[in-house]
Amino acid sequence: MLEFIFQGACNDIKKTSHKWQTPSNIALVKYWGKTHPQLPKNASISFTLNNCNTRTRIDFNKKQNNNSIEFEIFFEGKIKEEFKPKIADFFDRIKKYCPYIYDYRMVIYSENSFPHSSGIASSASGMSAIAMCIMNLEKDLNPNMKDSYLKQKASFLARLGSGSASRSIEGPLVVWGKHLDIAGSSDNYAIKFPYKTHPVFDNYQDCILIVDKGEKDVSSTLGHNLMHNHPFAEQRFKQANDNLKKISDILQNGNLKEFISLVESEALSLHAMMLTSNPYFVLMKPKTLEIINKIWNYRRENDSNICFTLDAGANVHLLYPLSEKKEVDFFIKSELLKFCQKNHYICDYTGSGSKKINS
Ligand code: PMV
Repeated sequence: MLEFIFQGACNDIKKTSHKWQTPSNIALVKYWGKTHPQLPKNASISFTLNNCNTRTRIDFNKKQNNNSIEFEIFFEGKIKEEFKPKIADFFDRIKKYCPYIYDYRMVIYSENSFPHSSGIASSASGMSAIAMCIMNLEKDLNPNMKDSYLKQKASFLARLGSGSASRSIEGPLVVWGKHLDIAGSSDNYAIKFPYKTHPVFDNYQDCILIVDKGEKDVSSTLGHNLMHNHPFAEQRFKQANDNLKKISDILQNGNLKEFISLVESEALSLHAMMLTSNPYFVLMKPKTLEIINKIWNYRRENDSNICFTLDAGANVHLLYPLSEKKEVDFFIKSELLKFCQKNHYICDYTGSGSKKINS
């Protein structure tokens, strides 16, 4: 990707600091399976969330030598040595595109709006926040940079940290992965869904029911790798790409019944890949299934448009239109809360992506 290689600085910056807030996202059509270096085997689309986000500040101080990448990471006020290897890998992958990171000592201060041990993946919001801070430094070095380039390169960099992080720069609907029916789509970075969406999807609600706060038994890196040699892999990649075409039409025409069946099928297909890999594994918990059954009953009895999706974990994302918020709030409190660990759930809705924080 020659277009993302830094072309040289116009300014000499000795010291600067940037702070960005970037969101988590929830995929409607899932990415599961990749090739090196973090290129997806199929295209995916996600809702960008509003309330679940990471806030990261990076202090950049120019150093004497430029022969190594130096950084510290503080998470929620405490130094976090255990986060260093993943971020060091990330810097290693982006150094070719951002060689100026050798020139600065970087101190990273990061915090999440959602509890760390809530089973909500923070790699998407975490990596995209670092990518935005780095790109803000690049803009200081090269002020003529266009905003569209900044965001595209930030998505490209974030992708090298965690695939789904590429979808956490913009909102409310983002596509990552080359797809013939989505103009401008690319495997290298994510783009905003380029077509006008039906108003029923405005402020679409996502209530995350926390079934299990623990660390996952199987990391997503391992899960992606199990898609190599998976007996159903090719079929799955085709299904996802077909579903992306279908959901693109649905998002434009507002057919919620079709939306529900596609989104739930995607969630279960993702988990079906886990159930049928070698070695196989199960990330759902009994309460995940109890919630799913409750949702199906509620939908049948109330002619509701509520549906669920799942990430690579046991938590259930309840998706529904804003117009049904009052009824669904009542349903959650009266029937679903008992399945949540310590009655914990987080109500969120679609958001517009990364935001600069002026401190
Ligand atoms: O970005 P990763 O490597 O954490 O993979 C994310 C995969 C899923 O969250 C399960 C699906 C998706 O498209 O977000």
